[in-house]
Order: sequence, then C-alpha cells, then structure tokens
Amino acid sequence: MRTFLRVLLALAIVAVIGLLLFIFIPPQTTEPHEDLAAGWQPEEGAGEYVMRLADCAACHTAEDGVQFAGGRPINSPLGVIYSANITPDDETGIGDYSLDEFRAALYDGVREDGAHLYPAMPYDNYRFLTEEDVRALYLYFTTEVEPVSNPVPEPELGFPFDQRWALRAWKWVGLPEAERDVGGPGRYDDEQLNRGAYIVEGPGHCSACHSPRTQTFTQAGFTAEDPEFLTGGEIDGWTAPGLRGPDSPPQTWSGEELARVLGTGRNAHASVVGEMALVVEDSLQYLTAEDMQAVVAYLRHIGTDGPAPEDDADVPDEAEQVRAVDELVENATAAMLSTADPDMPLGARLYLDNCSACHMVDGRGADEVFPELDGSFLVTAAEPTGLIHMILEGDELPSTEERPMRLRMPGFGWRLSDAEVAELASFVRNAWSNDAGSVTAGMVADLREEHEGDQAAVE
Ligand code: HEC
Ligand code: HEC
Ligand code: HEC
Repeated sequence: MRTFLRVLLALAIVAVIGLLLFIFIPPQTTEPHEDLAAGWQPEEGAGEYVMRLADCAACHTAEDGVQFAGGRPINSPLGVIYSANITPDDETGIGDYSLDEFRAALYDGVREDGAHLYPAMPYDNYRFLTEEDVRALYLYFTTEVEPVSNPVPEPELGFPFDQRWALRAWKWVGLPEAERDVGGPGRYDDEQLNRGAYIVEGPGHCSACHSPRTQTFTQAGFTAEDPEFLTGGEIDGWTAPGLRGPDSPPQTWSGEELARVLGTGRNAHASVVGEMALVVEDSLQYLTAEDMQAVVAYLRHIGTDGPAPEDDADVPDEAEQVRAVDELVENATAAMLSTADPDMPLGARLYLDNCSACHMVDGRGADEVFPELDGSFLVTAAEPTGLIHMILEGDELPSTEERPMRLRMPGFGWRLSDAEVAELASFVRNAWSNDAGSVTAGMVADLREEHEGDQAAVE
C-alpha cells in the first residue's frame, strides 16, 4: 500500500508540472465502435438487460435509497467516493446527457462537464461495450428510469487526489485500447466463447475485482490474452480468488456447479460472500441460460487455454491417489475434533465451540446451506482477509429468484480476541485437506481497525 501511495504521489507531481495543459486541454473521447443507423432501436427489454449484465444498480443505489439515485459510498484506498445519480433528473442526475456524453462517461470516464471520473466507476472495462449496448443503456436510463432529485456528496479525498484533472495522467497508463477483437469477427472461432469473453471482459467487469492491480492501481490485464487477467485480486478487504489456473473454481468445479454458484450464490461446495454476493444478487442471477453457459464455457476455456475439460471427466489415477491421501488427512482433523481431548489446540477448540454446529467436524457443512470449509477458495486464499472478515463480521447469502431464502452466518468479532481469531483462522486454513499459511493477531487487528474506519467514514 505504501509503495502504491508513493507511486500515485509521484504521478501527481508529474501532473502538477503539466498543470495548465492538463486543466485547459479538453479530454479526448473515444469514437463509437461501429456506426449504427440514427433510428436504430433496441429490442424491448434490451437496455435493462445490459444494465443487469453491467451491474449499474449495485454501485448507483445507496442502501435504502432509490434505485440509480446514487450516493452510495465506495471505499477506495485513497478515501470515499460517492456514486453519481444516474436517473434522468436534469439538475442532480444525467437528464441532460447526450448519447455522445453518455458514451464518453462509459468509455473514457469523462463527465458531461468535461471533468474526469474516478475509476471507482469501471469505465476501464466498459470501454469494450458494443455500440448497440451503449445505445440500449442510454435509452433505458433516459426514457425508462424515473427522474429522482438527489444531490450526491463530493468525494472525500485528501490533496492531491481530490484534483480530478490529475486523473488524466492515470488514464494514460490505466486505460486499455478501446478496440477489441471480440464482438466483431471474434477472437475465437466459436460464437459461445466470444459471447462469454464479451460479457466477462466488458460489461461484467469481473476483472475489476478478480485481476491484480499494478502499482499505479491499473488492472493488470483486461482480456484473456493478458497473462495476469483474472488471476486474483483484492477488493475492500476481501480476496477475490483467481479464476484461471488448475486450482481455480472454474477448473475445479463442473460447468454445472460453476453456473449454480454464479446464478444462485451457492452450490454443493461453496457459497458467495461479501462483494460477490452483491454481484450475484444484482447482476448474474438475471443472465439468460444461454449467456450463463457462454460465461461458464469461456471461464473454463481460458483456464486451460484449450478445450474446456469434460464435465463428468474421468478422474485420472494420480488425482484419485492424492484424494485418497487427502481423505486420511481430513479424517485426522475430524477424528481429533470428535474427541473431547483437553489438550486440543486452542484453534481446534474454538472451531468446535463456535463453528462446528454449522460447518461440521469434517468441514463439509451441508449442501447448499452451509458451505464447505474443507477446500474452500476463500479459506485457503493466499491472503486470509476474506476468512478473517467472515469470522469477525459474518455475512449473508444473497437472495435470488431461484433461492430466495437468506441464510446468515453470525459474526464472532465481538466475542473473540484478535489472538483467538488468529488461532482459529490458522487452524481452519490447515484443517482437513487445507494447507495454507497461518494468520497472526496483528493481521486481525489491522482488519478490525480498517473496518471500524470504514464504518466511521460511512456514518
Ligand atoms: C463499481 C461501481 C460502479 C458501477 C458498477 C457503475 N458505476 Fe457509474 N459511477 C460510479 C461512481 C463511484 C461514479 C462517480 C465517480 C466520480 O465521482 O468521479 C460514477 C459515475 C457515473 C456517471 C457520471 C455521472 C455524473 O454526471 O456525475 C455515469 C453516467 C455513470 N456512472 C453511469 C454508469 C452506468 C450506465 C453503469 C452501468 C453500465 C455504471 N455507471 C456502473 C460507480 C459505478
Ligand atoms: C465487486 C467485485 C467483484 C466482481 C465485479 C466480481 N467478483 Fe467474483 N468474487 C469477488 C470476491 C470478493 C469473491 C470472494 C468471495 C467469495 O468466495 O464469495 C469472489 C468469488 C468468486 C467466485 C468463487 C465463489 C466461491 O464461493 O468460491 C467465482 C466463481 C467468481 N467470483 C466469479 C466471478 C465472475 C464470473 C465475475 C464477473 C461476471 C465476478 N466474479 C465479478 C468479487 C467480485
Ligand atoms: C449458524 C451457522 C453458522 C456458524 C455457527 C458458522 N457459520 Fe460460517 N457460514 C454459515 C453460512 C450460512 C455461510 C454462507 C454465508 C454466505 O455465503 O454469505 C457461512 C460461510 C462461511 C465461510 C465462507 C465459505 C466460502 O467458501 O464462501 C467461512 C470461511 C465460514 N463460514 C467460516 C466459519 C467459521 C470459522 C465459523 C466459526 C467461527 C463459522 N463459519 C460459524 C453458517 C455458519
């Protein structure tokens, strides 16, 4: 984080030198990706559907606020930025945006008055939207959404980050080429893969959370051709797992299990938490079956960079053997937890007292109700922040059309000390077949403090 701040500071200093140029030359905006006839009309419902794909509602709706009226606080490492009112209100919303101005906001992060938008709005990914989708969105927001008057607070950022013109420097390094190879003739010789690539790389902006960030806070990859694309990132204290590579969810689960977790927030092994629960609830649950299949096919394709593995693949012998060894190890943990041994280590005892009622001594939980902790990507992530978060604060499963019931996991932060949370987290990260680094009380204290800071900023 320190290096990151220093780099941004350095960028800001460079920006000061070009101050006048920066302030007075109007920003360039990207041309439409294709020419559509002036009278082009989307199919009915198309605009709302693209809004779901792009998840505009999640950020632009405040808790208990009117949909799209903005004002939701977005935590960035530099401070809090409030989302804009994007209802068609003339005074406080986007009522007087032209189509070109709307496209400039989505492609270039430029506001109607020419000011630069903070990349808390994922225009670095929306740059890939097709012109049809931009137009459908524009018509949706200007003709189907009701105007709501709601002035939104200014960002709470210290100098120099409160200077919007300095964002121009960031955009030089941070924005990918807007031209793209899918949607047109296509990168893949396969319509389904091209559609999946479009959704994931463009409107779905999965990369905003699932790709690492460079030192200048740029996404370290924007398309499957970039090696670091979707290899795992961090968002507001939660770890977003890598979605590529042999041990990632898309390669470990069958296509059907992956589609279930994306569409309903849970499958037999796992459930989504934190930011991902919002993505499922506000966006992915609305995907058509066809689009969901495309996303799944693409994610499974890019992990291997070859044909997707068969769903009911024969498990190779070697994997079978590894599994057999794992079972023994798993049983060792379960057996230890089943004894009332007074010498049981502290972490195991805390697990037994606080967690095993729901997640069971074998760490297998209950299908689609209590997720498995054995083999959970969140539990064994390189950064244990997600696990610590869960123990401190708990979380709620998203409610979806197909699975409406919200299940809640309680938080334990109020009754466990930092040292106890660390012991417990370290135990869970190494119980059963899990094998991940241990957690220190200092990490827990940092996260607790960060969270209290967030609460204070929001209040
Ligand atoms: C990850 C959060 C996020 C998502 C998703 C998101 N936005 Fe934004 N958007 C923001 C934030 C934050 C701002 C304000 C940024 C600033 O003040 O610099 C903003 C600003 C805007 C603005 C500028 C409005 C103005 O005049 O101030 C427009 C237009 C906009 N968003 C449209 C959209 C649309 C359309 C979508 C869906 C396709 C969308 N946004 C999705 C976070 C988001
Ligand atoms: C706003 C940030 C954000 C966005 C956008 C996002 N994710 Fe996630 N995702 C997360 C976080 C954080 C986690 C880890 C928490 C969890 O496991 O539920 C996660 C977890 C996942 C998981 C593993 C679920 C599990 O239970 O192990 C999958 C699969 C996934 N995301 C796919 C996607 C896809 C596909 C997209 C784009 C359509 C996407 N995500 C967009 C933040 C995000
Ligand atoms: C009352 C039942 C209950 C108890 C007790 C409980 N949990 Fe949970 N846990 C849940 C539910 C329900 C979820 C799914 C929540 C969600 O997805 O938002 C969950 C999810 C999790 C996850 C996320 C797993 C994943 O892959 O997404 C972790 C990690 C976790 N619990 C750890 C613990 C630990 C450690 C304890 C003991 C301190 C504990 N839980 C106690 C019910 C419980």
